[in-house]
Amino acid sequence: MIKKYNLTFIFFFIAILLTVGCSQKATENTAKEKSQSLSKAYDGMFKIGVAINRAQAGGHIPQATPLIVNNFNSITPENVLKWSRVQPQPDKYNFGPADQYVAFGEKHDMFILGHNLVWHTQIPDWTFVDENGNQLDREALLQRMKDHISTVVGHYKGRIDAWDVVNEAAGRDGLRKSKWYKIIGKDYIDKAFQYAHEADPDAELYYNDYNLWAPAKRQTVVKMVKRLQKNKVPIDGIGMQAHIGLDNPPIKEIEKSINAFSKLGVKVMITELDVSVLPSRHDVNISYSPGDGDKYGDVPPKLNPYTEELPDSVQQQLTERYVQLFELLKKHKDQIDRVTFWGLDDGHSWLNNFPIPGRTNYPLLFNRSYEPKSAFYGILKVANS
Ligand code: GLA
Repeated sequence: MIKKYNLTFIFFFIAILLTVGCSQKATENTAKEKSQSLSKAYDGMFKIGVAINRAQAGGHIPQATPLIVNNFNSITPENVLKWSRVQPQPDKYNFGPADQYVAFGEKHDMFILGHNLVWHTQIPDWTFVDENGNQLDREALLQRMKDHISTVVGHYKGRIDAWDVVNEAAGRDGLRKSKWYKIIGKDYIDKAFQYAHEADPDAELYYNDYNLWAPAKRQTVVKMVKRLQKNKVPIDGIGMQAHIGLDNPPIKEIEKSINAFSKLGVKVMITELDVSVLPSRHDVNISYSPGDGDKYGDVPPKLNPYTEELPDSVQQQLTERYVQLFELLKKHKDQIDRVTFWGLDDGHSWLNNFPIPGRTNYPLLFNRSYEPKSAFYGILKVANS
């Protein structure tokens, strides 16, 4: 006969076994999730975002949706919120595609970016002239900027979490002499942030630019942000676009900019990450320039060497480049708020058509069949190591 204290002992023993079993299962599940999802692997370090196009936001690419939802917790619209798309004519706003984009982000509980409000490109010519074609003066252009920002930011008030307010205001040497700059003066930047803040006081507001690893641009942006802060302009973060190559820029220069920007007390983000594997004209010493007629025609093979597939050796280089970059970002996880890839899959990357149209590039984490590449697993490994 089993004595009472024996029964109690057996009961506790089974309870302990069950608890250990369950928590082991939970740990295994979490580990499994982390080994399969980028955003879960980097949870607690920084957000992982992706720029999505109109078809992806509309759910029209069935292979893309689960990859986006499983791997990313933030989205940026590739084009639908650019001025030329959202306000193609003075009195015509087109919110349909952007509404779909925002609804996609809300449905999947993502951190939603608005991109972008004030830029020198993808903006209609009418923006800068009156109905007779004469250039607007400072006050009239400021009014036009204010109308655009108030309408667009106001439309998504409380729904878009953060805006790239000004895009690419820095040139190689000092501020870019864009129409915004020439007509309004350098405080067009201050005003853009102020108007955005008035339209949605809870949205975070960022400055976004490319090549911010370059010392001269780094200095220009540090100087500009210090001036904005002195003028009490509400700026919350700096986005470093990061359209980079296999060898350039040096990781050290990216690190210097992360440190310089975070010293300003703002959030630092990598906002448009992709790694081109293709040579430039300069690399292969060719002065090829595509004509209008041959936009999708034959690009010289030297400039478009991997039309069928990416050789293993280059795939390896790509993986190593991504791994090195993510090792740096993980090291600076306390300074980095978000890392966003400029696109989901190689087939839809802008780099197939820029700077030379009609090439086959391999800059992202998923291939043309929506399968994860070795760079994807490399980045996961960095997070989990
Ligand atoms: C810039 C812009 C993006 C996008 C990329 C190229 O970096 O900020 O919106 O246009 O160029 O696709």
